[in-house]
Amino acid sequence: MGKRTLDNLDVEGKRVLVRVDFNIPIEQGVEAIAQYDQRLRATLPTIRYLLDRRCRVILCSHLGRPGGKVADSLRLAPVGDRLGLLLSHPVRSLDGCVGPSVEAAAASMAPGDVVLLENLRFHPGEEANDPAFVQGLAGLADCFVMDAFAVAHRAHASTVGMTQHLPSAMGLLVQKEVEALGQALDSPRRPLAALMGGAKVSDKILVLENLLDKLDHLFIGGGMAVTFLHALGKDTGASSVETDRLDFANGILGRARERNVQVHLPQDLVVANQFAPDPSCVRNVPSDQVPQDWFIMDIGDCAAQEFSQGLQACRTIIWNGPMGVFEMPRFSQGTRVVAQAIAGMDGVTSVVGGGSTAEAVEELGLMDDMTHVSTGGGASLEFLEGKELPGIAALPDA
Ligand code: 3PG
Repeated sequence: MGKRTLDNLDVEGKRVLVRVDFNIPIEQGVEAIAQYDQRLRATLPTIRYLLDRRCRVILCSHLGRPGGKVADSLRLAPVGDRLGLLLSHPVRSLDGCVGPSVEAAAASMAPGDVVLLENLRFHPGEEANDPAFVQGLAGLADCFVMDAFAVAHRAHASTVGMTQHLPSAMGLLVQKEVEALGQALDSPRRPLAALMGGAKVSDKILVLENLLDKLDHLFIGGGMAVTFLHALGKDTGASSVETDRLDFANGILGRARERNVQVHLPQDLVVANQFAPDPSCVRNVPSDQVPQDWFIMDIGDCAAQEFSQGLQACRTIIWNGPMGVFEMPRFSQGTRVVAQAIAGMDGVTSVVGGGSTAEAVEELGLMDDMTHVSTGGGASLEFLEGKELPGIAALPDA
């Protein structure tokens, strides 16, 4: 059964505690907030929905992993400032998330006020789902909206804990995430393709296990391709092979054959004589001619074209993981070509997993050209693995 949505929660004029995920890479400096504000933008529909209903909106989030202690570099106020700009509405950042001063601030809010509590993870009670911390937080509001898909895989005070104390519902972002990812998994338009990349096979084992039987096509790039190519007996130079995953890779290839899932591995590769952003030698070589002591850095030009054309024939694409070492601009080409191809396709449902894939799509300026780009890294991975996310499971049924 589906979970309760915002339109089934009586919020009119109420004090609403909204769990958002504003965990963005603040270590890159406050200026980087504008560059990585997908997670802020994604919560605007829910905040606006509540403001339209004269709510007093109390936002709460974690930022980083301060381990239950105050860390000045992980204060949320700069994020609150950015949110105020995006919302064109004042956002008042508080310097705590529970306690008398926060209670006084919440009690004095007028309809249409928006406050942002301080980083929840400054308190050990957040990650421990501690009853006293849960009470302190729940006491600030009349109801609770879970709009932090990216942290829904954590059973914390501000996710699972709140649902046991306040009338609760999912926010518009969580609803959109669950619908988009759920539909791609359960009732996709066919052919269905998974485009898998990223550094390691081991990160994607459970996703591959869960997806394989549903797929028509499986495209494999990124560091993952190294282990699959090695499993097929190809020489992969100095690139690191997950030797303990070779049997798994062979198992996937065998199961794919049995089930008529077409597997696409790169027929050529970009290789370099050093694993570095600017190596002295870079070449495009067939995938069975990787020179000894060289590193595989990206899928090759032909592979990028072949992947793009193959994806063109599909009606639903689930994409998780860059095609090469995208963070090094010299090796971002494969990811760029494939991303641009998907972005340009008509009538295709493209669902992009969060984390590094979402960052790549954001950096390429293609966010609006995909059907759905998940805000969740670990959470979207667990969803694609078929796991129940505790922060969503805890919400009341519709
Ligand atoms: C994320 O960025 O994936 C979420 O905010 C969860 O963060 P965590 O892995 O520190 O719990």
